Amino acid sequence: MVDLSVDLGPIHLASPLVAACGTFGSVVEFARVTDLGKYGAAVAKSVSEDAWPGRPAPRVAPTEAGMLNGIGIQNPGIGAWAEEVGPRISSLGVPVWGSAVGTTAQEFARVAKGLEGAGVAAIEVNLSCPNLEGETMFALDAGASARVLDAVRASVAIPVGAKLSPNATDIVSIAAAVSDAGADFVTLTNTVWGAAIDPETRRPRLSGIVGGYSGVAIKPIALRCVIEVHRELPQVPIVGCGGVRSGDDVVEYLLAGASAVAVGTAHFEHPRVAGGITDRLVELGRFHEVERITDLTGRMEPW
Ligand SMILES: Cc1cc2nc3c(=O)[nH]c(=O)nc-3n(C[C@H](O)[C@H](O)[C@H](O)COP(=O)(O)O)c2cc1C
Repeated sequence: MVDLSVDLGPIHLASPLVAACGTFGSVVEFARVTDLGKYGAAVAKSVSEDAWPGRPAPRVAPTEAGMLNGIGIQNPGIGAWAEEVGPRISSLGVPVWGSAVGTTAQEFARVAKGLEGAGVAAIEVNLSCPNLEGETMFALDAGASARVLDAVRASVAIPVGAKLSPNATDIVSIAAAVSDAGADFVTLTNTVWGAAIDPETRRPRLSGIVGGYSGVAIKPIALRCVIEVHRELPQVPIVGCGGVRSGDDVVEYLLAGASAVAVGTAHFEHPRVAGGITDRLVELGRFHEVERITDLTGRMEPW
């Protein structure tokens, strides 16, 4: 049997599979639908300090390959979230990570503290949100991203990761900045900016016009980000994320340098997708004759 357990910096996971933020509800809902034991961790939907109403409909749209979303991070705010989800976390049988969003570094830090108090095992800092203290979203600005990580790191004792954007021109410099500021891992990546228009009504398919593009078509983009960051910063633990649907996809991300791999959009098509992914992962581990699946991390062969 191939050992699927992996280490992601200070975090030990029973499986490299992570349920990606925003595609797995608050995790609680998925306990009724799928076997949470197939995941090493599951990330609950991003939470802000106060409730965010999200954008008006339409907020999701299918595309030829993958989907667009412009939800606007609808959530009840950390107080209500902690009350509702917090008491259920420990009985789910999978480590639940919280995802923090905010519009200032201090807001991120307060949300992170609330998530820690609610019992999450780690925090993923979602840097793909508007920065009220700067000119662009946090994830495009190394300095702003580092300030958020600094503030979050100072406010909690549990492991903290930074979720970065493939829209950054130089994702390596952002990864270096958040790592220096204390991030225990980076998640690569969030969605790619995209848009679609109905050619008959002439309306954009999302009310916000531009939204996040995810699914099978973004895998080469996110995989490129993993390769670049792992090449320049081999000491930084990585969660690969983007377009994963199969065990083959997971192995690609491991070879590129990821220690763990998140599944997102695939859950909308197949909520139980983790079972087949795990079976294939074991098969590929045997094929490569490794004792531990983690032995494949960063082992892409050069031509
Ligand atoms: C409907 C939807 C909602 C999402 N919401 C969040 C979110 O709240 N926070 C976050 O960090 N990422 C969010 N994401 C991004 C995913 O976690 C993931 O990074 C991205 O979709 C790429 O992976 P995939 O191609 O496997 O879906 C969302 C994605 C989708 C499709």
